[in-house]
Amino acid sequence: MYFGTATNQEQWSNKEYTELMLEQFGSMTPANVQKWMYTEPEQGVFNYTAGDEFANYALKNKKVLLCDTLVWHQQYPSWLDEKTWTKKDLLNVIYQHVYNEVKHFKGRCFSWNVVNEALNEDGTWRQSLFYNVTGTDYIETAFLAASAADPRAQLYYNDYNIEYPGPKSAAVENMVKWLRSKHVKIDAVGLESHFIVGQAATEAQQQQQMQSYIDLGVQVVVSELDVRFETLPPTEAGLAQQTVDYQASINACIKVGKQCMGISVWDFDDEYSWIPSSFAGQGDADLWYANFTTTPAYTGVVSALEAG
Ligand code: G3I
Repeated sequence: MYFGTATNQEQWSNKEYTELMLEQFGSMTPANVQKWMYTEPEQGVFNYTAGDEFANYALKNKKVLLCDTLVWHQQYPSWLDEKTWTKKDLLNVIYQHVYNEVKHFKGRCFSWNVVNEALNEDGTWRQSLFYNVTGTDYIETAFLAASAADPRAQLYYNDYNIEYPGPKSAAVENMVKWLRSKHVKIDAVGLESHFIVGQAATEAQQQQQMQSYIDLGVQVVVSELDVRFETLPPTEAGLAQQTVDYQASINACIKVGKQCMGISVWDFDDEYSWIPSSFAGQGDADLWYANFTTTPAYTGVVSALEAG
């Protein structure tokens, strides 16, 4: 089981950050540079400069490289929105994009998040460009292209609020069943696990939901774990709760056994967290404070991992 982090190259000039990253984590996920807007900025023109730099750095430092992400309704290039697509043409564009990118990184990526966040909270399909033009065919096309380009990479569907039983996780289960019934390769479900202190799914809920996916014949990963405070600064009681919330995901993953392949946090130091720019006034979601001192949750995570 790996324990890793998402990161961005811009942060690596900070020596303190980089030393911690290399010392404490076993896997690395690029938080941005492999996304479609960066890798195919013009149709058919691929740019893997930053992605290669990331991948080579991770592998040179003996980290597992978790690749992210091929088809997502955010951070895709503007040319996709500037045309009116037929279903056939858009599916072709998706196939070419996914095939080209996965082929480029072939042999380096342990896994790919093939499709991200295709569902609404109520379990209906998200009205993205991809869905509006192709229905659900884009999902199948993306997975087919990825498996054709690198048959050995693990292929994931990745989403948030699917860590506990409910309509959205039920819809993910249906998606897995649908793809497997068509013999489309899908290896795991990525549980993003962006939680709020005191509102996280419990360990029992997470374990139950992980097992439901596993029972369908796929594995699971905790792919983007963080637990944010809605109001700052945190109280002592809040920090204790955050520790329990982090431990719930760690313990659930350990308890379901090797079918939970690993855990990644979505960056580890509050200085570089995505939270404050997306949720104004919220934060302190990570295992290290902005000044690179560890949080109580860090100690709790280490002891949960050691106990497992
Ligand atoms: O690249 C530009 C840069 O040129 C410009 O100067 C700067 C000014 O703000 O913006 C830069 O782009 C930012 C980009 O990250 C790269 O740093 C975007 O504004 C910013 O919106 C973007 O945020 C990313 C976010 O996805 C986009 O929705 C976060 O870094 C990234 O951590 C986050 O990751 C997502 C996962 O992919 C999916 N799950 C949720 C997770 C958190 O939102």
